[in-house]
Amino acid sequence: MTQLNYDAIIIGGGAAGLSLALHLASSAKVAVITKGALREGATYYAQGGISAVLDAKDSVESHIEDTQLAGAGLCDPDVVRYTVEHGREAIDWLVQCGVDFDRETRPDGSCDFHLTREGGHSHRRVLHAADATGKEIQNSLVSQLKSHPNIDVLEKHIVIDLIIDENHHCQGGYVLDRQNQQVITLASRFTVLASGGAGKVYLYTSNPDVSTGDGIAMAWRAGCRVANMEFIQFHPTCLYHSKAKSFLITEAIRGEGGILKLPDGTRFMPDFHPNAELAPRDVVARAIDHEMKRLGIDCVYLDISHQPADFIRTHFPNVYRKCLEFGIDISQEAIPVVPAAHYTCGGVITDLHGQTDVGNLYAIGETAFTGLHGANRMASNSLLECLVFAKAAGQEITARLNKAYKAPSLPEWDASRVTESHEEILIAHDWDELRRVMWDYVGIVRTDKRLQRAAKRIQVLQKEIDEYYVSHTVNNDSLELRNLVLVAELIVRSAIQRKESRGLHYTLDYPLANKNNLHNTILDPNRP
Ligand code: FAD
Ligand code: SIN
Repeated sequence: MTQLNYDAIIIGGGAAGLSLALHLASSAKVAVITKGALREGATYYAQGGISAVLDAKDSVESHIEDTQLAGAGLCDPDVVRYTVEHGREAIDWLVQCGVDFDRETRPDGSCDFHLTREGGHSHRRVLHAADATGKEIQNSLVSQLKSHPNIDVLEKHIVIDLIIDENHHCQGGYVLDRQNQQVITLASRFTVLASGGAGKVYLYTSNPDVSTGDGIAMAWRAGCRVANMEFIQFHPTCLYHSKAKSFLITEAIRGEGGILKLPDGTRFMPDFHPNAELAPRDVVARAIDHEMKRLGIDCVYLDISHQPADFIRTHFPNVYRKCLEFGIDISQEAIPVVPAAHYTCGGVITDLHGQTDVGNLYAIGETAFTGLHGANRMASNSLLECLVFAKAAGQEITARLNKAYKAPSLPEWDASRVTESHEEILIAHDWDELRRVMWDYVGIVRTDKRLQRAAKRIQVLQKEIDEYYVSHTVNNDSLELRNLVLVAELIVRSAIQRKESRGLHYTLDYPLANKNNLHNTILDPNRP
C-alpha cells in the first residue's frame, strides 16, 4: 500500500481546482486529482462565457441586482457583492494565464473585449472566447501547470472517501488509481473539493460524465452540512437529436437575437415574461416544458437564422459546426432544442474562503454552496464563482501553511472483506433507474406525490447500492453510483421540505412563492 504526502490535495481539475492549484503552487506541494482525463469536466464544455463588469455603462450595483433578482430572494448579499467586486481581478488573472477572450474594435477605433448578453443580465457583461469559452480557459490553465513543478496531476484517479480524524479534521483521502485498480492513500494538510456538480443524476443533462456529485456525497459522509439541493438548474436549450449526447446550445445565441419558436413557427416567450427569450433561465425552461406538454411535442426550436451567416459562423463556430454534423445548418434553419439538467445550485456549505464544516476541508466551484446563486444561478456567474473562490481559498490556505505539520501515518484502505463482482448488470440497471426516476419525478415541474414516489424508489435503490458497495471491490461506476444515489436523496429531501415555488423549484402543489420561506434548505448529516 502506498501513502503519498502533500500540503494540499485538490479533488478536481476544472476552473476551480486548477485556479487554486496555481495560486498555491509557489508555497505548497499540491496534488490535483481528476477521475478522468484532465480536461474532462464541465469547465471544458462551458460555452457562453464569464460575467464581469467591464463596460463603462455597466456597474457593480447592476450586476449585483441582476444576480439577486435571478436568485429569487435567496442570494447572500455579502457573497454576491464579494464575487461581483472581484470580477475584474478574476478576468485580469485569466488574461495573465493566457486566456484569449474575443475582442472587438469600437467605433472610436479602440479595441476591447467583446461582451455578449445572456438571460437575466441587464447589460452586456459576458466575456467569451467565441462559443467555446470553457475550452479556452481550461487549456490556458492546463498550460500554466507546466511551469509549476510543485503540482502533481493524478489523472484517472477517483477519490473514494475523505479520511476524517477523531477531532473532525480532514487528513486526506483514499483514491482508486483506475488504471492499476489499486487504492492509494493521500495524506494532506488541506483537502479541497473542486469536483463539480451532479447533473448526471438526471437522465438528460448538459453535463459531462464526471459530474456525479462526488464532492457533495463525500462531504456529507464526512459530516458537512449541505444547502439548497432542491435548486437544480435546467438549461432551456440542449440540442434535440437522437445522436447528440449532452450538447448545449449556448444562451448567448438568445443574447444575440435567437428566438424560441413552436413547430409552426410561432414565437411564445413574450407570453411568459417581459424579457421574452432573455428571461431568467428557470422561466424559459418552464415555459418550454409547458409548451411541450401542452402541445405534446418532442422539442421546440431556437432560430438565429435571421442573422447574417457570417455573424453566426464567427460568433458561434462551435455550435455551428456541431449542428452541421447532425445535418442542421443553423444559418438557414432553426435548431431543435429541449431543456436538460445543467447546474447544481446547492452544495457543500462554505464560508467566504471555501472552508466547510470539517477542519482543513475546503470546497470551491460548483460543488460548493457559497450563497451566491440563491434559488437560481444567473448565466455565466458560475465560472466567475470558481475563479473568485479559488483565489479566496488559496489566500487562506497559504496563510495557514506556515504552521508546523508532520504528515500522519494513515490507516490503509481495508479491502479484506470484499470480492470481485460478477454482476455489473446490477450497477448498470441501478444507474438507469435512478436517473429516470429523477427525470420523471424530480424535474422542472414537481408535485408532492411525485417527490414522495421518488423518495421511496431512491430508498430501495440506496439499500441495494450500499449492500453492493460494502461487499465488492470498488470500481469507478459503483463509486459514482453510490454518490449519485446519495445526492438524489438529498435533492428529493430538500425539495420535499420546500413547500412553495421559488426560482428553480416549481411545484404544482404550492405554485406561488411564500414570503415566510425566504431561507435556505439546510441538511445536516449529524441530525438525520
Ligand atoms: P468541473 O469543471 O466540472 O470539474 C470537476 C472536476 O472534478 C473534474 O476534473 C473531475 O474529474 C473531478 N472529479 C469529480 N469527482 C471526482 C472524484 N471523486 N475524484 C477525483 N476527481 C473528481 N458556467 C458559466 O459561468 N459560463 C458558461 O458559459 C457555462 N457554460 C456551461 C456549459 C456546459 C455544457 C456546462 C455543463 C456547464 C456550463 N457552465 C457555465 C457551468 C460551469 O461550466 C461549471 O459550473 C464550472 O465549470 C464548474 O467548474 P468546477 O471546477 O467546479 O468543476
Ligand atoms: C450557456 O452558454 O448557455 C451556458 C452559460 C451558463 O451556464 O452559465
